[in-house]
Amino acid sequence: MMLLEDKVAVIHGGGGSIGAAAARVFAREGARLFLAGRSRPRLEAAASAARSLGAVVDIAVVDAMDEVAVDRHIDEVTDVAGRIDIALNAVGFDHVQGLAIGDTSLADYLHPVTGYLQTNFVTAKAVSRPMIAQGSGVILTISTPGARLTGRGLIGNAAQSAGLEGFSRALAGELGPAGVRVVCVRPHAMMDALDTSYTREMFGRIAADSGIAFGTWMDGLVGMTLLGRLPTLDEVAEHLAFAASDRARSITGVVSNLTAGALVD
Ligand SMILES: NC(=O)c1ccc[n+]([C@@H]2O[C@H](COP(=O)([O-])OP(=O)(O)OC[C@H]3O[C@@H](n4cnc5c(N)ncnc54)[C@H](OP(=O)(O)O)[C@@H]3O)[C@@H](O)[C@H]2O)c1
Repeated sequence: MMLLEDKVAVIHGGGGSIGAAAARVFAREGARLFLAGRSRPRLEAAASAARSLGAVVDIAVVDAMDEVAVDRHIDEVTDVAGRIDIALNAVGFDHVQGLAIGDTSLADYLHPVTGYLQTNFVTAKAVSRPMIAQGSGVILTISTPGARLTGRGLIGNAAQSAGLEGFSRALAGELGPAGVRVVCVRPHAMMDALDTSYTREMFGRIAADSGIAFGTWMDGLVGMTLLGRLPTLDEVAEHLAFAASDRARSITGVVSNLTAGALVD
């Protein structure tokens, strides 16, 4: 029995590093996929990988910040598939980290806060309608270790990540009585995402501003973990698939800590 057999999953940011990795694992586990994102070539690549694992996949260029566009797309998905069981928001974008508060503009501080909180509000609101109507569903959000870390240069990332974790917890309370679960996943940086993720540029800038070689800076992240390594894209995707599955049917309102022990609860 596959983990997500006959489940209908929508992934916003479906062409991104985590979005495409999740699409591969969801496909292998039997899900019907709808990938939405900004760049068609990245969506096509993710869809083709998922199709090669046997999944039926539709793609759509949808701005995940745009409430009207996301609502319209979700209506189209429910028209085609009849239901939505899983909604993953894997949208990501470069933003300013690493600067002291005195060197950070208000706009740079607010950019990740409003952006990540906006897209997760827009996509969760849109999928909550069909999920409430069908009396089931799982909404998956992705935060970052910044939710719990401290130190210079993290204020925007921290406010964004802690805000998203609070959003996910409160939404779990609201939607639980309707049978809808909400799970937030908090991975540490993934080395194998660097080639495709906005993180290479962002981490590279922080390392360069600090006068540290990129590899040495990344080694510093590894040094924060208890396991002496960072998580991988596959590990995060496998966890998302488990969290989305009926095997996790009693799990809601949690933040899954995938930091390899950089943060302990
Ligand atoms: N990578 C990491 O190490 C890491 C660690 C912890 C948490 N996270 C979190 O994981 C999430 C995804 O990160 P990632 O590394 O997978 O990022 P990524 O590889 O850069 O992919 C992000 C995807 O989001 C899409 N996107 C951006 N803005 C959009 C919009 N307005 N509408 C629709 N799609 C949009 C991008 O589209 P384009 O293809 O057009 O760029 C891209 O496909 C983020 O929330 C991030 O904070 C990542």
